[in-house]
Amino acid sequence: MSAIRPTQLTVEYETSPPLGLDTPRPVLGWQSVGEGYGLVQRGYRISVASNPERLTESPADMWDTGYVESDRSSGIAYRGKPLESGTRYYWRVRVWDGDRCASGWSAVHSWTTGLFRGEDWQASWIGNKAYAHPGPAPLLRKLFYLDDGRSVESAFLFATALGVYRIRINGKDAGDGRLTPGWSDYRSHVRYQTYDVKHLLQEDANAIGATLGSGWYAGHIASFGSGHYGNTPALLAQLVIRYSDGKLLRIVTDETWKAADGPIREADLIHGETYDARLLQAGWDGPEFEDRHWNNADVLPAYSGTLKADIQPPNRITEDIIPVSVKKAGDGRYIFDMGQNMVGHVLLKTKGPAGARIQLRFAEMLTGSGEFYTDNLRAAKQTDVYILRGEGEERYEPSFTIHGFRYVEMTGYSGTPQLDSILGRVVHSDMRRTAEIETSDPYVNKLAANIIWGQRGNFVSVPTDCPQRDERLGWTGDVQIFARTASYNMLTRNFYKSWLEDLRACQMSSGAIPDVVPDVDAFHDWVRTIGMKGHGTAGWGDAAVIVPWTMYLVYGDRTTLCESYDSMTKWMEYLAANSVNGLRPEEGYGDWLSVRANTPRDVLATAYYAYCAKVMGNIAAALDRTEDRDRYSRLFGEISAAFADAYISPDGKIKGDTQTAYVLALTMGLAPENLRQRMAGHLAADIISRGTHLSTGFLGVGYLLPVLSEHGHHELACRVLQQMDYPSWLYSIKHGATTIWERWDGWTEEAGFQDERMNSFNHYSLGSVGEWLYRYLLGIDLVESDPAFRTVRIQPRPGGTITRASGVFRSIHGDISVEWCIREGRFECSLRIPVNVNATVHLPGRLEDISESGYSILRSRMSEVSGMLCAESEQAGTTLRIGSGSYFFCVPWNECSAPR
Ligand code: BGC
Repeated sequence: MSAIRPTQLTVEYETSPPLGLDTPRPVLGWQSVGEGYGLVQRGYRISVASNPERLTESPADMWDTGYVESDRSSGIAYRGKPLESGTRYYWRVRVWDGDRCASGWSAVHSWTTGLFRGEDWQASWIGNKAYAHPGPAPLLRKLFYLDDGRSVESAFLFATALGVYRIRINGKDAGDGRLTPGWSDYRSHVRYQTYDVKHLLQEDANAIGATLGSGWYAGHIASFGSGHYGNTPALLAQLVIRYSDGKLLRIVTDETWKAADGPIREADLIHGETYDARLLQAGWDGPEFEDRHWNNADVLPAYSGTLKADIQPPNRITEDIIPVSVKKAGDGRYIFDMGQNMVGHVLLKTKGPAGARIQLRFAEMLTGSGEFYTDNLRAAKQTDVYILRGEGEERYEPSFTIHGFRYVEMTGYSGTPQLDSILGRVVHSDMRRTAEIETSDPYVNKLAANIIWGQRGNFVSVPTDCPQRDERLGWTGDVQIFARTASYNMLTRNFYKSWLEDLRACQMSSGAIPDVVPDVDAFHDWVRTIGMKGHGTAGWGDAAVIVPWTMYLVYGDRTTLCESYDSMTKWMEYLAANSVNGLRPEEGYGDWLSVRANTPRDVLATAYYAYCAKVMGNIAAALDRTEDRDRYSRLFGEISAAFADAYISPDGKIKGDTQTAYVLALTMGLAPENLRQRMAGHLAADIISRGTHLSTGFLGVGYLLPVLSEHGHHELACRVLQQMDYPSWLYSIKHGATTIWERWDGWTEEAGFQDERMNSFNHYSLGSVGEWLYRYLLGIDLVESDPAFRTVRIQPRPGGTITRASGVFRSIHGDISVEWCIREGRFECSLRIPVNVNATVHLPGRLEDISESGYSILRSRMSEVSGMLCAESEQAGTTLRIGSGSYFFCVPWNECSAPR
C-alpha cells in the first residue's frame, strides 16, 4: 500500500474541470496526501482518454505516460495525440511513494477543448446595426428544435461579444459569468466562453436568448469618451449539440435570429444602467414566445481579430452584502450604508405604480456632515435607474454596469425603504482564495482583509487601478507591485496569464509597453495632455518581466515564461536603447504618491532596469537558455556597477537619500556588499527621523518591510506596520477604512479629503505590504531555486506588539499552515507541511533548547521523524530541514530571542 494518494487534480491550475481550452498542451497537476512524515512522490503515471471507458484501458487511447520516475506533480504538459476541438477529455493519475509502492488511481478529472480552428466557427456576428451607445440594449433570440427520438450526448455553447453579453437557454442563464467576455485588447483578440448546456435543453422546441451591451468595446473607458474599439456591439454564438448516434446539430448566430430592443434603455460600465421594466416582454428567451413581430437580426461585419478561449475564472457574484443602515437624507432621498466599500451592483426589491422611477447613486464616502460624497468620482455617474412595471414585488439588478461604493443613495422609492430593499452583490474575477492570516493585532487583521477587498474590487477581468471614478485602467505599475501579494491572496495564474496576452498584444514595435494594459488609442492622446509619454515608463513597463517571473515563482509556471519570452526580450531591448552607459534617464511618474520624499527618477529607472536584467538572467536559467542567462547576468553586473558609481557614495548614502531609493537598491541587488548594512542603516535612520513613518510611494512600498526584515531591522518593520498615525497603513483603518486607499493622505484629520481629482478609496497598490504579512510575519516564503513552494522557507518572525499569528497558504502542492505564539516564556509554533514538499524551518534558539511534540529534538524525535535534519544551529537560531507532516515546536523565549 502506498503511503500517498493523488487528489485535487488540476488542468491549467484549476480544480474545477475547465471548459473550452484552446491550448494544444494543457498543463496537468495534482496534490498528494498521506499520513506520516517526510512523504515524497517517487513516480507517477498519467492516462488521458477520449471517454471514461477508454480511461480504464491500458494504455489509455489519448496519452499514457507509463511509469515516470519523477517527483514532479505540477506543470506537466499534455503530450499525447492531437486534441480535437469541442471535445471532452478524461484523465487520472496514480503515484508511487518513496518506497516505490503504487497508489490506486485518482478520481477522474476532465477538461473540454474550445473551437481551435478558424473553420470550426460557422457563426456570424449579429446585432443591431442602428445601435448607438448607450442603448437600448438589443435582445437576440433563436428558436430551434431537437430531433425527435434522438438523445443528446453533449451540448456546448461557445459565445462571445464585441461588447458585453448575457445568454440564456429556455429562460435560464447559460453560465454565471458577469460582464463577459471581459476586457481584452479588441484590436487584437476577443475571448470566447464555453458553456456546458446539456441540462438546459428540453425535448422538441428550445430557444436561445441573448442581450448585448456596449461594455469596454463600445462604451466609456476612463475619461476618454466611448466607442474606442467600435460602435456596434455584436454577438457570436455557436451551440454544438452531439446526439448519442454521432449526429451533430449546430445552431449559430446568423440572419435567421430575431432582434428587438429590450428593457435596458441605456447601459455603460462607468455611468450606470437604466431599465424600464414596462418594456420587458415576458418569456422572450423561451420557446413559446411569439417573435413574429421582431425584426431579423443584422449580420455585422466579420471581426478582424483573433478569437481566443477565455482562460480566466469568470466575473461572478461572489458575495451578498446586507446594508448596515439606511437613513433619510432630505429631498426624498435615502442613504444606505453597506458597511463595506465594495464593487459590483445592488439588487433592488420594490413595489409601486407602473412608471415610478427609482434612482440609485453610488459613492464611496460621506462628507463630515453625512452628505453623499461623489467629488472623487469625477465624471463617472455611477447611477442606475429602474422604472417600475407596477405588478407586485419587483426585483432588478443591472447587467452591464459596475460600481465602486459603500453608500447607495435612493430616490423615488414608494414608501419607506427598509434594509432589505437592496442587497449588495460583489462582482469580480472569481479566483480561489489561497491565503489567510490572523494575528493578535486586530488592526493588522483588518489591514489583511482590506487588501483582499482591494483585490476583489479591482480584479474584474483585468487588474485596474480603481473601480469607481472615470479611470479604471490597467496601470502596469500598480499591477507589478501588487502581483506577489495578489498571488498569496488568490490563485492568480490564469488571470495574469490572460492579462499578459493583452500586454503582449499591445507592446509597441519599439518594445515599449503602454502604461495601461489593455491599451486604448485615446489613452495616448490624453497622456500627452498631462505632459507624459504614456509608454516605456520605469516601474510601469517593467511589469512585462516582473509579472511572468512572479507566475514562475509562485506556480512554477514555465508556460507563461515561454509565452512571454520574446516580449520580455523586446522590453529589454527597449531599455537598452533608452539608456546611456547602463543608466536610464527617465521622466516617468516617479515613486508615485510618496510622502515628502522625492526619489530621483533616474535612480528609480536605473534600479528597475537592473532588476529586469537580473530577473531575465534567472528566467533564462529557468528555461535552460544558458547564453541568455550569461548575457543578462553580465548586463546586470554592468548596470549595477554604473548604478553604484553614479548614485552611491562611499558612506553608503544614495542619491536622493529617500526610503524608496535605499529599498530598491537593497532589494534589487544594487547595494555593494560592503555597504549593505550601512545603507540599511540609512533607511532605518530615515524612518526613525520621521517618527517611525514611511515615505514610500507605489514603487517602494511593496519592498519596504521585506528589506527591513532582511537587513536586521525586523522590529522596526513591525513598528512601521503597526504605526497608527499618518502616514501609515493603519491610519486609514483607524478612520474606518474597509479597503486600501489610493493615497496615504486620502483623508486626514487636518485636511479632510484630498484633491478630489485623484482620490480613490479602493486602490490596491499600497496594499502590496500583503506579501510581507505572509512571508515575514507569518513566515511562509518560497525559495527561488525550487519555486512554487516545492521547497518552502518557514520563518515566523514575531515583532512589535504582535504575539501570535496563524494562517495558511494553499500552494499548488498543498496547504502550508503555520500557527505561532509567544506565551509563558515560550515560543510555540505548529506547522503542517504537505506531502512532497521540503521545508527549511528557522526557529529562534539553539538546537538543544528546541522540542517537537514535547520531546527534545536533539535526543529522540529527530531520528524518528524521517527526513528531519539540522542544517545549522547557533545562539541566534536553528535551521531544520523537514519533510511533510504536522509538527509542534517549542523554544524558550526571552527578549533576546526576538528576530532582528
Ligand atoms: C492611477 C494610478 C497610476 C497612475 C500613474 C493614476 O491616475 O490611478 O494608479 O499608476 O495614475 O501614475
